[in-house]
Amino acid sequence: MTDMFDVAGRSILIAGGAGGIGSGIAAELARRGAKITIADLNEDAVARTSGGLPGDGHTGCRLDVTDEASCAAAVETAVANGGRLNGMLNAAGILRVASALELPAADFKASMDINVTGALLLGRQAGKVMIDQGGGQMVTIASVSSQVANPNYAAYATSKAALMQLTRVLAVEWAEHQVAVNAIGPAVIPTPLSDPFMATPEFRAYQMARIPMGRMATVEDLFGTALLLLSPAGAFITGQTIYVDGGRTLV
Ligand SMILES: NC(=O)c1ccc[n+]([C@@H]2O[C@H](COP(=O)([O-])OP(=O)(O)OC[C@H]3O[C@@H](n4cnc5c(N)ncnc54)[C@H](O)[C@@H]3O)[C@@H](O)[C@H]2O)c1
Repeated sequence: MTDMFDVAGRSILIAGGAGGIGSGIAAELARRGAKITIADLNEDAVARTSGGLPGDGHTGCRLDVTDEASCAAAVETAVANGGRLNGMLNAAGILRVASALELPAADFKASMDINVTGALLLGRQAGKVMIDQGGGQMVTIASVSSQVANPNYAAYATSKAALMQLTRVLAVEWAEHQVAVNAIGPAVIPTPLSDPFMATPEFRAYQMARIPMGRMATVEDLFGTALLLLSPAGAFITGQTIYVDGGRTLV
C-alpha cells in the first residue's frame, strides 16, 4: 500500500525557514526524505539551518518576502534544487506587541507588509510555478490570532486574520489548477519570536490560562498538520486554517 503521507523526493521551499517553526518543520520533512530549500532574511542562519538538515539534497538562499524579485529568486532556487516545486511552507513573520493607543504606525505597517503582503508576493510566485506544473500544495503559518482578539495585538491579529482570508481567496483562484492553499494556526510556541514576551510572567500566565489542554504548544505539535498539508494525504484540502492550539480558539 502506498503511504499517503510520503514526502520522500518532494521539493519543498520553507520561507522563514531559519526561524523556530520553519526550521523545525524543515528538519522533520528532511528526515522523511524531502528536498528542502531554506529561505530566510537572516542569511547566516540560512547557511546554518540548511547545512544542518538531515539527509542530502537541501539548499538555502536569502529571501525578503516583501521584495517580489527576491520571492521569485527563492522559488527558482527551490525548482533548481528539486526539479519542481511540490510544496511551499511560509513561516516568515514578525510579532509586534503594543496597545492600540501606543502602537507605532510603522510597526502596524511592517506587520502587514511581512505577514500579509509577503504572503501574497511569495504565494503568487510559488503559485505560478505550481499552476504551470499542474498542481502543488502551499501552507502559511497563521495563528490563533487569526481568530481570537488579545489586547495589544492590533498589528499581529489584524495581519493574521488577513492571512486567513488571503488563504481562502488564493485557494479559490487556484483550485482549478490543483493548487491547494492552507494555513496552520498555532497557539503560542516558545521560539525566538515569542520568547521575549513569554519571559514576562503576566504574559505567560495570560496565555496559559486560556489553553484548555493546559500546556503550551511545541514546534513538534505542528509536524502532523504540516505533513498532512504537504503530502498526498492533504491534496484535496484547500482554503482551510487548521488550528493546532489545545483548544485556545474554543474559549
Ligand atoms: N512562536 C509562536 O508562538 C507562534 C504562534 C503562532 C504563529 N506563529 C507564526 O509562525 C511563523 C514563524 O514564527 P516563529 O515563532 O518561528 O518565529 P521566528 O522569529 O523564530 O521565525 C520567523 C522567521 O521569519 C524570518 N523573517 C522575518 N522577516 C522576514 C522577511 N521579510 N523575509 C523573509 N523572512 C523573514 C526571520 O528571519 C525568522 O527566521 C510566524 O508567521 C509567526 O507569526 C508563531
